Amino acid sequence: MQKNIVLLPGDGIGPEVMKSAKAVLDAISKQFNHTFSYESHDIGGIAVDNHGSPLPPQTIDACKKADAVLLGAVGGPKWDQLPSHLRPERGLLGIRKELDLFANLRPVKGYAKLLHASPLKEEIINGSDLLIVRELTGGLYFGTPSERRDNGNSVVDTLTYTRHEIERIVDKGFKSAQLRRKVLTSVDKANVLESSKLWREVVEEKKADYPDVTVDHVLVDAAAMKLITNPSQFDVIVTENMFGDILSDEASVLTGSLGMLPSASLAENGVGLFEPAHGSAPDIAGLGIANPLAMILSSAFMLRHSFQLEEEANLIESAVEAVIDEGYHTADLQITNGNKVNTAEMTKLVVDYIDSKN
Ligand code: NAI
Ligand code: MG
Repeated sequence: MQKNIVLLPGDGIGPEVMKSAKAVLDAISKQFNHTFSYESHDIGGIAVDNHGSPLPPQTIDACKKADAVLLGAVGGPKWDQLPSHLRPERGLLGIRKELDLFANLRPVKGYAKLLHASPLKEEIINGSDLLIVRELTGGLYFGTPSERRDNGNSVVDTLTYTRHEIERIVDKGFKSAQLRRKVLTSVDKANVLESSKLWREVVEEKKADYPDVTVDHVLVDAAAMKLITNPSQFDVIVTENMFGDILSDEASVLTGSLGMLPSASLAENGVGLFEPAHGSAPDIAGLGIANPLAMILSSAFMLRHSFQLEEEANLIESAVEAVIDEGYHTADLQITNGNKVNTAEMTKLVVDYIDSKN
């Protein structure tokens, strides 16, 4: 299989973990005789430095022509004081919108070896394996007007959704549940928000199309509580943009580290983008100790969702599981009696496992 992959390493630890993902993809392409070609482009702070914009037109063009996009992370203190249209995060929001990446899939799984790396009790996390399906291109983060008024003394943000925007993400939630344990939890704030009332109506209407899926509605505040008191009750959670943003960071606690969480951002037909859930981790950037597994698992997601390479994706996921099982971990995971390794060593362990299955 011949594929053209655009790499957007970005800022901070982004380039460090991207290097790891590429090494893993090289091992996969060698073993399965695929030809992956890579093209790197700037996004975020580095793009501001090099091109005066967090999302230069050549980056957008390259992504639109690619078969898939891998992104590291953007942002850092260096760019914090810039006006909002130049902030690195604008690059991220911009590329999501340009590629119409309306669906963000974030799996959260408690690895047996990492149970005690979480601040939560082991018996609470044990058996948790859930998928958050977050709407990514609508809602509060994109609504206009979003501005200061009255000389800065009052503010407005706008939450808008169309029926079409809700329907396509709810469909994605149902379809994802069908591929898993067939339980869908729709999270909203229908007791207060008009947008959530339409959301709930759409979920109720769609139920008939997916008779094999069990559905329930949970208010977002209750969902936040249940996620850390009884996470194993969840299979697939579908929710709007901001609720999904907050709940997915909260859910990351179950895995012991943000450094373990991959994500896929998908369009209806176009190119998909795959990135770790974590940010650019400026506090550890350049030290060579970042956990590359979220980025590596994101590349497995790319193989599965964009290229339908299920066997290859599974091999990467088995490699990660095996390495964790052997007790290896990066510094972000507090594990007793483990073998602490750096980014390059962790990457080599994963690559070696893949090579050993040749
Ligand atoms: P962060 O996710 O970068 O870091 C939070 C904490 O987790 C830090 O202590 C960091 O060292 C640690 N961490 C994160 N990923 C890690 C990894 N792979 N290995 C080891 N440790 C890891 O979030 P923070 O600190 O809130 O934001 C830092 C910068 O990243 C900001 O500029 C923020 O805007 C940006 N950001 C970018 C995102 C993206 O590109 N998708 C998402 C979230 C934040
Ligand atoms: Mg977030």
